[in-house]
Amino acid sequence: MDRYAVIGNPISHSKSPLIHGMFAKQTGQALSYEALLAPLDGFAQTLQQFLREGKGVNVTVPFKEQAWELVNQHSAAAYKAGAVNTIMRQGDGSLLGDNTDGRGLVRDIQVNAGLSLAGLRVLLVGAGGAARGVIQPILAAGVDQLCVVNRTVPKAEALAALFVDDGPISAAGFQWIEEPVDLIINATSASLGGELPGISAKLIRPGHTLCYDMMYAKEPTVFNRWAAEQGAVRCLDGLGMLVEQAAEAFLLWRGVRPDTAPVLAALRG
Ligand code: ATR
Repeated sequence: MDRYAVIGNPISHSKSPLIHGMFAKQTGQALSYEALLAPLDGFAQTLQQFLREGKGVNVTVPFKEQAWELVNQHSAAAYKAGAVNTIMRQGDGSLLGDNTDGRGLVRDIQVNAGLSLAGLRVLLVGAGGAARGVIQPILAAGVDQLCVVNRTVPKAEALAALFVDDGPISAAGFQWIEEPVDLIINATSASLGGELPGISAKLIRPGHTLCYDMMYAKEPTVFNRWAAEQGAVRCLDGLGMLVEQAAEAFLLWRGVRPDTAPVLAALRG
């Protein structure tokens, strides 16, 4: 049986084994998928040991940048993202690194939520690894404008500069812009600490602006509660992105894209 795993630290909370287990059952693919805890200083060893037999891995916090360094080849998406969340061992033993986070986010917004990104004004809040991982697919979806805003402005500027050739991207500080936008994506880690990024409420046009927090939790995140109070037309969390990025990894490994709807429904239930 082909073996796959997700490697992270911590890892016990990971839903990936459950998600890939459901994908395998649904598509009739014979595979196993486990969660592996790597020591903080031992990612490379854990990865190499697993891939002696294993066919592929997902990589999660805090190892995605290290994974980028370790693979032999990068997909275009992974190359620009500077991070790898999916590795496939190829026939000759070399490792291909992909990053499916951005495709997962775009698919969750466009297919699951039914909102075409073409022509939209989009605000991306945050300029860390999570933000970097999704920029290229958002630009590729044909947005009118993608503005990266961050508490630390030079980080937003540096990030936008990396993608100037990929589409209409700009950078700003939290309080520099107040014109309403169509879509706000929270890619900061603020929700983890129960905090709000300090963006203006004027960015949300009541009844129009869709808000998306890449984090998820059992209860609505603090960002999504705030956005709902400002009148956001819909508030989505990152569970759909999690399932969609997993489906993209499954497609790369197995050549078949699972139906994500029943898996997402099972997780929500
Ligand atoms: P990740 O890999 O999750 O993106 P990261 O690279 O450490 O993690 O980036 C965290 C992001 O969340 C940064 O954009 C950070 O802003 P700064 O660059 O100014 O540090 C943002 N962030 C974290 N906590 C925040 C808070 N309380 N308010 C606003 N932004 C916050």
